[in-house]
Amino acid sequence: MSGKPVLWLPRRVSDATVARARQDYDVMLNEADTPGTADEIVAMSANVDAMMPCHSEHFSASVVARLDPRLKIIANHSVGMDHCDIPALKARDIVVTNTPDVLSDATAELAMLLMLGAARRAVEGDRLVRTGAWDSWGPSFMVGKQVTGARIGIVGMGRVGRAFAAKARGFDMEIHYYNRSRLAPEQEQGAIYHDTIESLLPVSDFLSLHCPATPETLDLMNSQRFGLLPDGAVLVNSARGALVDETALLEAVESGKLAAAGLDCFKTEPGGNPAFTEHEAIFMLPHIGSATTRTRDAMGFRALDNLDAFFAGQTPRDAF
Ligand code: DGY
Repeated sequence: MSGKPVLWLPRRVSDATVARARQDYDVMLNEADTPGTADEIVAMSANVDAMMPCHSEHFSASVVARLDPRLKIIANHSVGMDHCDIPALKARDIVVTNTPDVLSDATAELAMLLMLGAARRAVEGDRLVRTGAWDSWGPSFMVGKQVTGARIGIVGMGRVGRAFAAKARGFDMEIHYYNRSRLAPEQEQGAIYHDTIESLLPVSDFLSLHCPATPETLDLMNSQRFGLLPDGAVLVNSARGALVDETALLEAVESGKLAAAGLDCFKTEPGGNPAFTEHEAIFMLPHIGSATTRTRDAMGFRALDNLDAFFAGQTPRDAF
C-alpha cells in the first residue's frame, strides 16, 4: 500500500478521534452523520482500506458478501458486536475489532441512573415540577422504592456488570449475579453466584442486564421470567433491547409485578416503544450509556489503537 491507508468514519466521532485519525490515515467523513446504509457500506468498501463504524451500521451476512476485497479491517467504535456477522466477516478475511473496557464505567454509571430514576419515580416527579402541577406535599406523596441495602441481581458479570456491581456496593446493595461461569473470588468480591437465571430472579428486588445480544439471549426477560421476580421489582436495561420481550415488560408494569423499569435500550432504535410512553414508571433514555466526552474519546482512541496495530502488521488487541 502506498501512502496512508484510507479510513471511513461513517458517523461523527469525537474531535480528538478525528484529529488523531488524520495523523495516520486519509480520513473520509460522513458529514451528514446519518447511519450508513447497506448500499453505502458496500459502495464505500471499494474506496477504503478500513472502516470505523458504530452499532448503527449493520454488517449482516448479505452485506458482508457484497463487500469489496479492498476493505481489510472494521475497527468498531462500540463494544457491542451484534451489528456484525463475525463468522461471515472472518470467512472474508476481514479483521473485526471492538472497544471493550473503556466504556464500562460510563455505561455502569448510566445503569445506576436508570435504577435510581426508576426507583424514585423521576419521570413523574420531573413532570410535576416542570408543568407546574406540583401543588401539594405529604408523607405519602411520591413514595418510591429504596435502593440502599436492597438485593440487586446482575445478569452478565463481564466488564460492565462488574463496574455496575462496584457502584452498587457503594449503595450497600446485596449483590447476586448470573454469569455463564462463576467469577474468581477476587472479582466476585462477595457477590453471590447463581448458576441459572431462574435462581437469580426470585432474589432480585432490582435486576440489571449486562449481557450481549446473541441468539441465546433474545427475549431473555420474557413473561415467565418476569413472573419469577419479587413483586414490585425494578428492571434496568442498559445493554441491548433484544434482551427484553417488550410486550411482557409492558404487562409486568401494568400488572404491578414490576414497580418500575429503567431503559436505555429498545427493540426499535432509534425511536423506542411508543406504548411505553403511557407509563411514567418507565424511565427512558435514548441509548446513551457510553455518551460522555471522556468515554467517546477513549472509544475512538481504542478503535485507532486497533487500526494502528493492524496496519503495523500486528494482531489488534481487540480482534475477534
Ligand atoms: C456499544 O458500544 O455497544 C454501545 O452500545 C454504543 O454503541
